[in-house]
Amino acid sequence: MRAATGRPAAATGTGAPAAPGPAARPALAVDGLTVGYAGAPVIDGLTLEVRPGEIVALLGANGAGKTTLLRTLSGLVAPRAGRVLLDGDDLAATSVEDRARRGLAQVPEGRSVVTELTVEENLELGALWRYPGRAERRAAVARGYDLFEPLARRRASPGHQLSGGERQMLALARALVALPRVLLLDEPSLGLAPRVVAQLMGVLRDAAHGTGLTVLLAEQNVTSALSIADRGVVLSLGAVVVDAPAADLAADPALRHAYLGF
Ligand SMILES: Nc1ncnc2c1ncn2[C@@H]1O[C@H](COP(=O)(O)OP(=O)(O)O)[C@@H](O)[C@H]1O
Ligand SMILES: [Mg+2]
Repeated sequence: MRAATGRPAAATGTGAPAAPGPAARPALAVDGLTVGYAGAPVIDGLTLEVRPGEIVALLGANGAGKTTLLRTLSGLVAPRAGRVLLDGDDLAATSVEDRARRGLAQVPEGRSVVTELTVEENLELGALWRYPGRAERRAAVARGYDLFEPLARRRASPGHQLSGGERQMLALARALVALPRVLLLDEPSLGLAPRVVAQLMGVLRDAAHGTGLTVLLAEQNVTSALSIADRGVVLSLGAVVVDAPAADLAADPALRHAYLGF
């Protein structure tokens, strides 16, 4: 199932250890998190740890709270209670921008690229806040093209001319060129052809396994997410109802049927 990306493993990542021991500190930890908009909480006392270099698939029906959890982790939504820790540090007082500076990146729902700007300009934007020097920025943009070869062919095209798949590649590349340590993705496969989904998943897996990127991947496309994930976490009504190795979850019809609807 490994997708061929033609990309050297060293093209992304952080230099963090790729294969930490079981005692390694979680890259991302959520402790007793409660989040709500109005009324009852949407996330209710959720606890979760993601180890460095691990890919965790965040699964669950529409409305389970996946997007709310990701937006809380990136700082866009403030929790009512509980803590979010990045490399052991409490992020309560850390702004969205400072979380990004500390290596927490998000690819939100909906292939967010700047449609008026070209592919190249979008990649430059991804690198701009991180790299003050022009040479470093050029190297970062080149990493984006190494990740997704179709983007190199489209470098001068404005975002609005891209296909859905190319847009999602660009959204992911724009996040990865700044070499985040933890990447949050919200339903990147939505509406995309299986071949494109496989390519996106392959890039994520290479980044995690090759260079220690930590990934929390919210997906309705359970099969694709579990094909690259180390672990699957199923949310229901804002709480974790299953936390199991991805292979077990994929192979167990009772688990799949009870929690994932197939
Ligand atoms: N901005 C919002 N204001 C009020 N309620 C919201 C908002 N966003 C999501 N919700 C509600 O929170 C619950 C969880 O939604 P969401 O986090 O989007 O779940 P998922 O991503 O798993 O589909 C749903 O009941 C949804 O209606
Ligand atoms: Mg969602």
